[in-house]
Parts: sequence; structure tokens; C-alpha cells
Amino acid sequence: MKANKEVTGNLYHPPKSIVRKANVKDYDSMYKRSVEDREGFWADEAKKLKWYKKWTQVLDDSNKPFYKWFTGGKINIVANAIDRHLETHRRNKVAMIWEGEPGDVKVMSYHALNREVSKFANVLKSMGVKKGEIVTIYMPQIPELPIAMLACAKIGAMHSVVYGGFSVEALAGRIADANSRVLITADGGWRRGKITDLKSIANEAMDRSPTIEVCITVKRTGQEVHMENDRDFWYHDLQSLPIASSKCKTEVMDAEDPLFILFTSGTTGKPKGLVHTHGGYSVYTSTTHRYVFDIKDEDRWWCAADPGWITGHSYLVYGPLINGSTIILYEGAPNHPYPNRWWSMIEKYGITILYTSPTAIRGLMRFGEQWPKRHDLSSLRLLGSVGEPINPEAWRWYHEVIGNSECPIMDTWWQTETGGMMIAPLPITPLKPGSATKPLFGVEVGIVDEDGKEVKPGEEGKLVIKAPWPGMARTVFGDPDRYVETYWKEYEKQGWYKAGDSARIDEDGYIWIIGRIDDVIKVSGYRLGTAEVESALVSHPDVSEAAAIALPHEVKGNAIHTYVILKAGVTGDKKLEEDLRKHVSEEMGPIARPDSVTFAESLPKTRSGKIMRRVLKARALGMDEGDLSTLED
Ligand code: WTA
Repeated sequence: MKANKEVTGNLYHPPKSIVRKANVKDYDSMYKRSVEDREGFWADEAKKLKWYKKWTQVLDDSNKPFYKWFTGGKINIVANAIDRHLETHRRNKVAMIWEGEPGDVKVMSYHALNREVSKFANVLKSMGVKKGEIVTIYMPQIPELPIAMLACAKIGAMHSVVYGGFSVEALAGRIADANSRVLITADGGWRRGKITDLKSIANEAMDRSPTIEVCITVKRTGQEVHMENDRDFWYHDLQSLPIASSKCKTEVMDAEDPLFILFTSGTTGKPKGLVHTHGGYSVYTSTTHRYVFDIKDEDRWWCAADPGWITGHSYLVYGPLINGSTIILYEGAPNHPYPNRWWSMIEKYGITILYTSPTAIRGLMRFGEQWPKRHDLSSLRLLGSVGEPINPEAWRWYHEVIGNSECPIMDTWWQTETGGMMIAPLPITPLKPGSATKPLFGVEVGIVDEDGKEVKPGEEGKLVIKAPWPGMARTVFGDPDRYVETYWKEYEKQGWYKAGDSARIDEDGYIWIIGRIDDVIKVSGYRLGTAEVESALVSHPDVSEAAAIALPHEVKGNAIHTYVILKAGVTGDKKLEEDLRKHVSEEMGPIARPDSVTFAESLPKTRSGKIMRRVLKARALGMDEGDLSTLED
């Protein structure tokens, strides 16, 4: 392994070749301007997009915390992600390269993408889809997924993408919350050489969803599936009807009109649907993508996240397409058929930037250097990380083995709620492995104690955002009180957004994210709530009470460990343990499958009946249980 010649102390300096060509040359002065003249800064960024009508006000904070951005402005994210490129050389540029797991490939120019999206937008219209209605999308990672998202946005409908790994319960619940009339799915997808059974899950979910009138299914695998008369249609049949004309007007939207909802797990109860808009979200995702990843026209950009999560929405689909990039989409597992799958794709397509999660890196690292070493990865210029803290060991492997000790690692901290990256380096920033470095433009962060006082360097505190930004979620769908309660209540006096993470800042002003301080668990970068796992367990006929906690896991970051009190007369054995794990997996999806189930006589609770998960965690780790004064008995 080549040692990086540019390491001084604990700082990794970016190669001169990157600094010389970087889009941003001076972070400090640009940052200063962005917070001193917030509105001016964002107005300048917004001007880079196509607006049907310019905004009258950049930031409207008359009804805090329900901030509005670019009010009075008229825009559509698709006008920026597709339409405007058709008038330039980008018309013939590759918009998307897709590789299916079995090896099939599709390449689409912006012209071709526009055709598919326009045709499908017309199909949706013919099905009666109206502006403002929410279409649920439940699909594998195939081109029709971004196409469906873009088609909805084009005609002013909102989408709600449900991750293709979720099960019946989760899908049915989200369809009900969104009141969806239309569901878009596929007959299946490929994962580790096997076919996933999306359509059967969709069918079961629809049996429980009285709102669904129409289901459109993409034929991906060709396996036999059940199609209901009058409800089910094949995507390819519809796309070949005369109604599916390739001419479709992009709907003119208000900047604040909602673009999508995306469900994410929180501390309590059911997952909540965060709402993002056409205007602010377009500006924020494209600006952050362009600066953090130093986007050039010739880049080939691979965000390896699933489009079903916020990373996929913001940086697989919208941000990069607005910036006119060539995006890569891959359907299957990173190690199928061999652990070199990703590395061979980088070589084959000449990918210049890879954006993925620490969990994926750790997973591939396990197979050893020989797999990436078989490939020419010299096209790579930058690497990115997102979703959880990256441990220095994985950071170094990523940098040295994948990045040939050259590629800087952009460790980006953000959330479904923030819409885009908030704390991240630029390609010119000297790096420290494990630190997301500094706030991005217009982002003011604080690391504070309970009273809102800044903690000292090196001390742990709560991460807050002190001023609004254009990409922020506008509300929780259908539940504005919950939006206020969850994010704005704790620091109401100061008007700060509570991120739910703890962090520290070092003497150089570098930020180190420690992890969630609430009951949200990050398993393989996926966001789950302990409350959801617990309610899945309690829905089993043998279970009376349950608690779920996260414990460290070498590859997944966290593993789910559960404690269960059984109903009277039921005895816990190996078989029941296995049944319960399977039950959670069926209720929520395989990612939520607990790593362990422990049968217990009682659970540590406060006198008001709240489970003290921290006590369970301390016990499991053999650590000090801390203050037990509120423990019931
Ligand atoms: C965690 C994902 C450390 C964090 C975009 C946050 C991170 C949660 C990082 C949001 C990072 C995300 N370093 N932790 N670079 N990025 N997180 O909504 O706990 O799925 O609150 O959004 O992921 O998860 P979400």
C-alpha cells in the first residue's frame, strides 16, 4: 500500500491536482458570506436554476418554525433535472447508466430519459392522477424507479417511495397514511441471484388498502404474478398506448408546493412522512452536490444508495440530474456474483465519484484487498460516505485501497429531515478520518448542553442547527404538531432545530458525530426506530412486552438486540426465539430482523412505565448502569 505523502500530523491534505481545479477555492470567506448574508447567498445559488417566475422573497420566517423559501417563485424540479438540459449539449449526454444484477445494461441520454418520463407522466394523467395527490412507489433499483418519481413530479403529483426491502405491514401502513390511489411496483427484482417477490407483497398490502384503485407493474423478472382485473396494468402495455405521448407539459409549481413525502423512523410511534418541496429542495440538493463533490460535466457519478431512502432521492436522482451529471444505478448486491462487482463496475464505466455508506465499505473490506486490486480504479477522483459515523479503519481502507491514497473522502452528515448534506468537507478541506469536518454554506451548527450553552472543545453535546436552510423538511405530513414537538420544542426559546445526534467539536473546529441520542437505530445505515421493532414483537400472539436496543456491530454499525416478556403459560425456547426474529422480519422487512431475542421476567422501567433502554444497554455491554434512581424496582 502506498503511503499518502500529504499527511501532516493527523491531517490528510487533498492532492494538488484536485485543489487546482476545485469549484470552491476558499471555504472560509464563502462560508462567512453565506451566514452573514444568508438570503443573498441562497438567491445567488437559486439563480443558477430555471424558474418560470422569480421569487419575491428568499426566506419567509413569519410563521416559525414553518419556514418558507423562495416564496412567489414558480418552478418544477423536473424543469431543472431534465427540461433545461434538452436545450443544451446535454440533450445527448448520458443521463443514466443502469446495470441489473444479472448483467443487463441500459444507457439513457437526457433525451431518452425525457421521453420515458413524459410518456409515463401522460400515463399517470390518463389514470386520473392529479396535482397534489400522493402516488406510492414500491420498486427494486431499476430505471423505472427514478422515471416514476420524475413523472410524478413533472405533473405536480407527490411521490412516496417505500423502500423495496420493506414488507407488507410497512407498505400497507404507508399507503394508508398517504391515502394513495395509485401504486407503482414491479413483478420482482434481482438480489444475490434470487428474485425478490415484490408483487406478492404489493398484492397483500393492497388487500389491506381500500384507497388503491390502480396498480402499475413493471415487468422486470418475468416471473408469474397475480394481476387483478380492472386494477392491475403492466407498465410496458401502458407505455405503448397512444395516450403515452412523449410530449407532456411540465406543470408549473409554486416553490413551496410539496414534491414528495418520505417516511422515516423517529423516537416514538409510527414512522413519519417528511415533506420536501419543489423550490428549496431543488436549490439545496444541487448546490450541495455541486460544491461537496466538485461536480464537473465529464463526471460519472455513482451514489450506491437505494432510491427508497433520502440519500437516493437527493443524490442519486434529483441533485445530480439537476447538475446534468451522468448517474449510475445498480440493481443488486455489492458482492454478487463475487466481491469485485462494484470495483468491476467502476472500471467498466469509468466512474469518477463513488458515494456510499460505511457499512458497505466495511462489508467489502472483509473480503480483502485482492478484489479491488484486480481492477483499474484510477478513474476515481473523489469518494463519499454517508449514513453513520465512519470508523477510521474503514476510512483509511477506503482512501488507501479504493482511492489509491489519492481520493479525498467526503464524509457527509445529514438527515432525511435536512434534505441534503449539512456538515461535510469540500475537496479542498484537509481531512481527519472519522470527522465530517465543518458546516456547509449557510449552515450554522451548535453543539450544546441541555440549556443551550455551547460545550467546550472535546466535550460531548447535542447537535443543533441554528438557522433555517432551503432543503429543510417543511413539516410532518398530516401532523404539523409532531413536527414542532420532535424538532423545535426542546430549543424553542432559541429557535433551533434539534438533530437528535450527539457530537463533539475539536480544537480545530472539526465536528465529530457520535451518534443518535434518541431511540433511533442505524443498522447498516438504515434508519429504524426501537418503537417499531417493539411493536412488531408485541404483535406476536405469545409476546406481552418487548424492548429493543442497539449494540455495536462490526459490519452493520449497530445490531438490534431485543428483550421479550412472554404471555403467561408460554415458555421461551430456541424455536420461539427464531419465530420471533422471523416475525419481525415479516412485519417490517429483513433489515429489522433482530440479532438476538432474550426472554426476560421483567424489564427495567421508570416509575411512569417507560422502558429504560439505557439500563439494558449498559448491562449488555457490562458497563456501569448509571443513575438508577428513577428505576421502578
Ligand atoms: C446518521 C441519512 C455520522 C445520523 C442521510 C443522522 C451520520 C442519521 C452521518 C440520519 C455521518 C448520517 N456521520 N452519522 N456522515 N450521516 N448519519 O435520515 O445519526 O437515514 O441523524 O439520513 O444518520 O439518517 P437518515
